[in-house]
Amino acid sequence: MTSPLELQDLAVEIATEAGELARRRRTEGVAIAASKSTLADIVTEADREVEALIRSRLAVARPDDGFLGEESGDAEGTSGITWVVDPIDGTVNYAFGMPSYAVSIAAVTGSRNPGEWRALAGAVRAPSFGETFRAATGEGAWLDDRRLSVTTDAPAGALIGTGLGYDPRTHAGDLETLSRVMPLARDIRRIGAASLDLAFVAAGRLDAYFERGLQPWDIAAGRLLVDEAGGRSGWFEPDEFGRSMAIVAGPELYERLRERILG
Ligand code: IPD
Repeated sequence: MTSPLELQDLAVEIATEAGELARRRRTEGVAIAASKSTLADIVTEADREVEALIRSRLAVARPDDGFLGEESGDAEGTSGITWVVDPIDGTVNYAFGMPSYAVSIAAVTGSRNPGEWRALAGAVRAPSFGETFRAATGEGAWLDDRRLSVTTDAPAGALIGTGLGYDPRTHAGDLETLSRVMPLARDIRRIGAASLDLAFVAAGRLDAYFERGLQPWDIAAGRLLVDEAGGRSGWFEPDEFGRSMAIVAGPELYERLRERILG
């Protein structure tokens, strides 16, 4: 039986190599390959190439594991472990030349649903910042040699990350949710890469983060980072557009935020 720390080390190794490929391709220029759910929801040639690299490395190192990736779909494994992969989280930032994008790789077990699976290990690599966030279940969340902790109080109000999805039909509802959250907020950040929002909550750079409509690969590694940094996280029932709500924060703020968002 492989330990979560071994899975974490593999995730870090592959995310670092994949991040270097993404960074290199970025300097060569980005080609939009297609639109996905809406015109604004894009995939670049680099997303596909980076995911292919990650998938091939995992196939060699962990041939019995399953795979669930943003760009190349899923495959069942026989080991009970599934790798959940976003090759470039923050694709729109990446395409526009903004540095906030990341490779997110996690190993989960039990289910492919973020509300039900058990995350074992994960890594979020931000190549532009030279940072790799990592976590293994029961072993804490780390950035280099610094053990990460969520914030426990926000006397001037909470710095809260969020996102609006790519579907214009959902913007009014999301803005209404945001207006209910504002009384808790010092200010709002829209970083544009969910894995980084989550890593930043783990690192105490944000007090909280919530967003409706994330996909399993957006949240898999980052949510484990938050949990291992002493935070709380929830993945809640989908709305009428099929979008689940993700909420993460330190324990006390989490309850107040959940109450405001979900009532
Ligand atoms: C997106 C980013 C963004 C979030 C979107 C995600 P992608 O991931 O995480 O911050 O608002 O919901 O889809 O498409 O760039 O991998």
